[in-house]
Amino acid sequence: MRTQVGIIGAGPAGLLLSRLLTLQGIDSVVLENRSRSYVEARIRAGILEQHSVDTLTAAGLGDRLHREGLEHRGIYLQYTGTRHKLDFPELCGRTVWVYGQTEVVKDLIAAQLDGGPPLLFEVSDVTPEDVDTDSPRIRFTDADGVPQVLGCDVIAGTDGFHGVSRPVVTERTEGRLWERTYPYAWLGVLADVAPSTDELIYAWHPDGFALHSMRSPSVSRLYLQVDPAEKIEEWSDDRIWTALATRFSLDGWELETGPITEKSVLPMRSFVSAPMRHRRLFLAGDAAHIVPPTGAKGLNLALADVTLLATALVRLLRERQTDLVDDYSDRALARVWRCTHFSWWMTSMLHRSGDDFDAELQLSQLRRVCSSEAAARELAENYTGLPIDD
Ligand code: APR
Ligand code: PHB
Repeated sequence: MRTQVGIIGAGPAGLLLSRLLTLQGIDSVVLENRSRSYVEARIRAGILEQHSVDTLTAAGLGDRLHREGLEHRGIYLQYTGTRHKLDFPELCGRTVWVYGQTEVVKDLIAAQLDGGPPLLFEVSDVTPEDVDTDSPRIRFTDADGVPQVLGCDVIAGTDGFHGVSRPVVTERTEGRLWERTYPYAWLGVLADVAPSTDELIYAWHPDGFALHSMRSPSVSRLYLQVDPAEKIEEWSDDRIWTALATRFSLDGWELETGPITEKSVLPMRSFVSAPMRHRRLFLAGDAAHIVPPTGAKGLNLALADVTLLATALVRLLRERQTDLVDDYSDRALARVWRCTHFSWWMTSMLHRSGDDFDAELQLSQLRRVCSSEAAARELAENYTGLPIDD
């Protein structure tokens, strides 16, 4: 087998990369070690920045997103009995869309299987080789157990945090890693109940942070700050709804409850690995970086990486020019660090550490964001997503 770009991992990063390359006449093959149904069932974040919506739409993937997605014009910040709305169009002229990552992945897979380049599920033993040369290879075992070799011009490692690509880059470049593990986790639930709010609510509360998000007009997505060691079995549905009602409580407003269909505890960490390239092996998305979920940057950052990478690879493979691939890692990392800072800042402002001095600083910051247009604009610009070329 031979292709121009061998892509490891069929998450949003690998699938969008393949799509963007196809639209520019570049061949690719996507190798995924899980099954299609597993990949399409994973529940992840649900907010698309403006540039993500624009990129997906330009790539011919906007139909269902525009039909079923919900455009949001702001968020609420809540603390000590007040709920304050930030109006994004007024502050920065942009909006965001509520549309689950799961739905983005389904749309990308459907487009790929509808006449797009090969997408192989349930492969195993995926190994990038000869990445120092101009003709790297990927060894793998296909779904029928047959060993295969895929010859490529370039390999894209979009295989997520636990993938095989990052270790190859780190080892050959003596790269650097930065990591921060937060002393909090999120207990996330999906519930069959109409959202009790028109925009997302980010709530600071003495008991801990809570977030009211949604997936559709009839499905709510809610999160509670918990201890990372918290056992999900100890959270009955009643206990979850009571904690949510307490943390969101506001005079004259009520939280609607309904059947909880999914619940899990998510760890929170920041992680950055540099560089994002070694010769003919390029990293993008969770393979190179992780952000905590506050602010919903993970998916958007993955999509931004591959937007940059696709342009750079087209220039390399069509025009034989190396300028953009040579700049890829530095340009991508500049955006990664901006989003890493924003996610850390949102996390730090909203989660209870248990320290009362921290709490007063957080409340002071929240009051500032809710009363100063300059402070609110800084949040709005980052939340709705900075332009990819910044
Ligand atoms: N071989 C083939 N595929 C692999 C391998 C491997 N060795 N290891 C992992 N994969 C696959 C995973 O099964 C997954 O489908 O790579 C894919 C990586 O996808 P994601 O983890 O979704 O990462 P990415 O595409 O970068 O998207 C980032 O996902 O985790 C969220 O918050 C994150 O929203 C962000 C987004
Ligand atoms: C989500 O809907 O999953 C979500 C929304 C906003 C966030 C994080 C997660 O900041």
